[in-house]
Amino acid sequence: MTTHAQEIDRYRKQTKKSHAMYEQADKVLPLGVSSNFRTFEPYPIYIARAEGSKMWDVDGREYTDFSMCFGALMVGHANPIMVKAVAKAAGEGTLYGMPHDRELKAAELICERFGLGQMRFTNSGSESTMHCLRLARVYTGRDKVLKFEGAYHGGHDTALVSVKPPKAKLGSARHPKPLPVGHGIPEGTVKNTVVAQWNDIQSVREVLQTNDNEVAAVILEPIMMNVGVIGPRDGFLEELREICDEFGCLLIFDEVKTGAKLAWGGAQEYYKVKADMVCLAKAIGGGLPLGAFGASREVMNEIAAFRSFHAGTYASNPLATSACITALDKVLTKDVFKRVTRLGDMLAAGHNRIIKKHGLAACSVNIGANGTVFWRRKPPTNYREWLDQDFDAFWRYWHMNLNRGVIPQAQCYDEQWTVSALHTEKDVDHMLEVFDEVARAMK
Ligand SMILES: Cc1ncc(COP(=O)(O)O)c(C=O)c1O
Repeated sequence: MTTHAQEIDRYRKQTKKSHAMYEQADKVLPLGVSSNFRTFEPYPIYIARAEGSKMWDVDGREYTDFSMCFGALMVGHANPIMVKAVAKAAGEGTLYGMPHDRELKAAELICERFGLGQMRFTNSGSESTMHCLRLARVYTGRDKVLKFEGAYHGGHDTALVSVKPPKAKLGSARHPKPLPVGHGIPEGTVKNTVVAQWNDIQSVREVLQTNDNEVAAVILEPIMMNVGVIGPRDGFLEELREICDEFGCLLIFDEVKTGAKLAWGGAQEYYKVKADMVCLAKAIGGGLPLGAFGASREVMNEIAAFRSFHAGTYASNPLATSACITALDKVLTKDVFKRVTRLGDMLAAGHNRIIKKHGLAACSVNIGANGTVFWRRKPPTNYREWLDQDFDAFWRYWHMNLNRGVIPQAQCYDEQWTVSALHTEKDVDHMLEVFDEVARAMK
């Protein structure tokens, strides 16, 4: 049996070139990374290349990757179908600053798949939720937005409220206190973002009543995936649909993670609930930076009428839209979702079997292509329950997995695994073999 300190020691010994690169990167990049979500102790591994379900770091170590860039690589690393399409597209020019046939085809595919009247392209999930929320404000003539405690919707001011609020400051469960992430979020913005409790319709009702006629939209991840995998309880999404109609606000599904990953048509198809607006990114880009947001033609008309601003130099660039067409048309086809769900369910069942065998205070959950291990005995149903976990256990599990060649989920304790189109049963078996060893040591 090894202690966590010994595992960190082993990590350092195995990743010397990553450490050197980290020291160099820290000179030009805060934390030595380009996105805060990529940092972890003592320093991250730096990647040299990736293919299929594998990645190799600069020390030449191989990892079975279940992060898949936070789920964005649902098509798999360097999928040959994608490589061919992107190489061809690169040769035809990467930016036009003019409309073209590939954005049209990609938009048609997205509208069909996600039941949208019209849509616009962006370059990221953050941009999608930002434009979508502004559009909702314009359409309804209201300023406020309701989000759920613990939910992440990107890096802009409106969304950076109550993302991972500290336990001591949460306020009442029914009326969570809106708390900004870090500094620099204007007070007025925090006032305009009201917060309710996930899976508690009474909380949503009370917050909407308190802010009657002021809330433009309720934005949610149909499955909360920035606190592991916390699904909606039975009927919750239907109740949200009804309550939005009752209070005259728009229902926004932030499908940045669930879209083209949970099911062919995303969470709307999976849960059979129709949203008014949908935000997309990650998997739809087939590995390239691409986002989208859409709604009915009536709502989107606020953009056509120049009342709600939307523009972007890189929006719908031919490279990313070509990748989108290939990903949606050729890789993320209906049969893939059945396969990845089967593999994801095998992972959760396997983890639960091993957890039981070694008597760990943990549990595993999977929905579609995404699952995780929670370091508590029962799956949480909201952010507050999720906070009540043994996070030290997570970190031990994390380093032990990396040391044994598995990236078990995206970093870190608030993320989940993604089973991509290129993962196989062999990858599942490998992850479970490693987890058996890890769990035995963690007993
Ligand atoms: C649900 C959700 N919305 C929005 C975003 C922001 O997307 P991006 O990182 O592409 O800006 C993320 C990113 O993880 C997300 O998970």
